[in-house]
Amino acid sequence: MPLEIVRNDITKMSVDAIVNAANTTLLGGGGVDGAIHRAAGPQLLEECRTLHGCQTGEAKITRGYRLPCKYVIHTAGPIWQDGHHGERELLTACYRNSLELADKYHCESVAFPLISSGVYGYPKAQALKVAMDTITQFLLDHDMTVYIVVFSKDAFEVSSKLFKRGIDMTAVKWGNNENASGGMVRCVGSIVEGIDRETAGVINKDIKAQKFKAKVQIEQDKLRVSSASRDTLQEVIAFVKSKDYGQPLQFENYR
Ligand code: AR6
Repeated sequence: MPLEIVRNDITKMSVDAIVNAANTTLLGGGGVDGAIHRAAGPQLLEECRTLHGCQTGEAKITRGYRLPCKYVIHTAGPIWQDGHHGERELLTACYRNSLELADKYHCESVAFPLISSGVYGYPKAQALKVAMDTITQFLLDHDMTVYIVVFSKDAFEVSSKLFKRGIDMTAVKWGNNENASGGMVRCVGSIVEGIDRETAGVINKDIKAQKFKAKVQIEQDKLRVSSASRDTLQEVIAFVKSKDYGQPLQFENYR
């Protein structure tokens, strides 16, 4: 179920499927598309010719040929104009349709590049947010390991900054990621601020007894709750709010 961000060349990923940021012709191009075709060999283009293109937001699948993956899922991302031409919806559709196709082909692991964020000009931070939102939503009810493969150093730095700021969905990063080689990302987090350890312990026990799919950590005067599911997190918060712990609780909810 995890989502991981890694810095790598996607053609090196040993997963069931990698996703290609292609164009509507599916006949190859530059960027990640060019790299995938070069690494897969000419048979990939031969198979692509039989697919008769792909509309923006849609996805089609081929074999991986010389690549270390079984399949390549080709999707055509939107060309960024100004953000008011349905770019977000189309980019969401790229991720969603690719994931559904991967699921249909029983893929257990899938690697995505940051679709549209190169030649097509989609701002990288926004492209990453769309990717994470759509993938985490999908993972709520699918078992799959999904990688977002970030290629350039600056893109990786954008992702690290987003996590540090806990931007809007708060990806809570677990583990040491100093080598920029990827780290487990849990997708929502929330903190109950300013409580004493004893109360934190009681709340922790109460949450655990409910068997929510959430992780609870006590940190000094904070209680951090995280879960791969935003809905679960909201349930946990509602549960804690419904109880009386003898002191007002401050919720800092990252979403
Ligand atoms: N591995 C992972 N990511 C990569 C790699 C790689 N080997 N190479 C580039 N990226 P782009 P788009 C990153 O331009 O914006 C093609 O010509 C790159 O840094 O490949 O969707 C197609 O045929 C960027 O963040 O795709 C289309 O015509 C991201 O992949 C058009 O470009 C996407 O950049 C599609 O443009």
